[in-house]
Amino acid sequence: MNVQPPATRLPRVGTTIFTVMSQLALKHGAVNLGQGFPDFNCDERLQQCLADAVRAGHNQYAPMSGVPALRAAIAGKNAALYGHRHDPDSEITVTAGATQAIMATVLALVHPGDEVVVLEPTYDSYVPSIELAGGHPVRVPLDATRGYAPDWERVRAAISPKTRLVMLNFPHNPTGRVLRAEDLAALERIVAETGVWLLSDEVYEHIVFDGVAHQSLMRSPTLAARTVVISSFGKTFHTTGWKVGYACAPAALTTEIRKVHQFMVFAVNTPAQHAFADYLREPQPYVGLPDFYQAKRDLFVDGLRDTPFRVLPCEGTYFVLADYSALSHEPEPEFARTMITRFGVAVIPVSVFYDTPVDRTVVRFCFAKSDATLREALRRIRAALA
Ligand SMILES: Cc1ncc(COP(=O)(O)O)c(C=O)c1O
Repeated sequence: MNVQPPATRLPRVGTTIFTVMSQLALKHGAVNLGQGFPDFNCDERLQQCLADAVRAGHNQYAPMSGVPALRAAIAGKNAALYGHRHDPDSEITVTAGATQAIMATVLALVHPGDEVVVLEPTYDSYVPSIELAGGHPVRVPLDATRGYAPDWERVRAAISPKTRLVMLNFPHNPTGRVLRAEDLAALERIVAETGVWLLSDEVYEHIVFDGVAHQSLMRSPTLAARTVVISSFGKTFHTTGWKVGYACAPAALTTEIRKVHQFMVFAVNTPAQHAFADYLREPQPYVGLPDFYQAKRDLFVDGLRDTPFRVLPCEGTYFVLADYSALSHEPEPEFARTMITRFGVAVIPVSVFYDTPVDRTVVRFCFAKSDATLREALRRIRAALA
């Protein structure tokens, strides 16, 4: 008998736009400002910490929930920055990047038929995670007319008796929007009325600009009591390929998350965990990160200023959006291809972060690149426009 292809669990998932654009960029020798990863190396001290961990023999399975020294370091960092101390033993789980923390959290908390509120534009792993859990995504748009501010009235209206979880992501990919203190207050009112849990994806917590403090949901005891806060060392320490992140949540939620986690990966890369525990003794690498990326944002944004691209405000993350309507009325995916073939620069069409097609002309640039790469991209854009 012929072997039948499997019925897919995720019918709407194909090759991601990030892979498509990266392949196209490679083919055309384009500067890749599409996918979100640095093109420069991580700190030499961190490289040394990893080598030391391997030499010291930290090469076998780590504890399921994470290396104790790393969980303690995460607890200490969060307490110092945001005033909330998670118990490293019962409330912090080290994961294979934020992606796995998100999947484990959603599979643990969402049951078939549950609804999950997500804000749109939405990071690409959220909806597949919800669908694999048998849940239904309920999309609430960020307000593009107000700098992609969250509209809390619409969030409240989207919550039904079936809603289990609200998924948030600030600083926000792709819009660069950050939360204000008023947003936390609005969220506090919503959870008081509805009793939902929150997943707060804060992978860009250390990339917030112009002297503004990151509004972690941990800052509010009311929110911390019902939130899974997820972060990633990949974004903070230029090590996206190491795939180490973590989930911090009240013990009752962590118990369930760990049940899923232990059968997804059991444990996470041991030497990398020791390396981060060691590296985290010094706060400078994450304390200095806003200035490091702000200089890159300014270099790139200033360079685009005298072009027809209209740059939108970028308060955090290493992404900036630009409207190209003064240049072209092509739909975003076509314009992204044109960017590669005509400009020699790869970008991501923002429409891919939406379920419903949006009639806008906005693309996302990633500026987590060396200054030389950013300058070359700007040179190519100017040359193509000349
Ligand atoms: C908003 C957001 N969440 C999660 C992730 C995934 O993080 P990790 O590479 O640690 O899995 C990313 C990476 O681009 C992201 O932008």
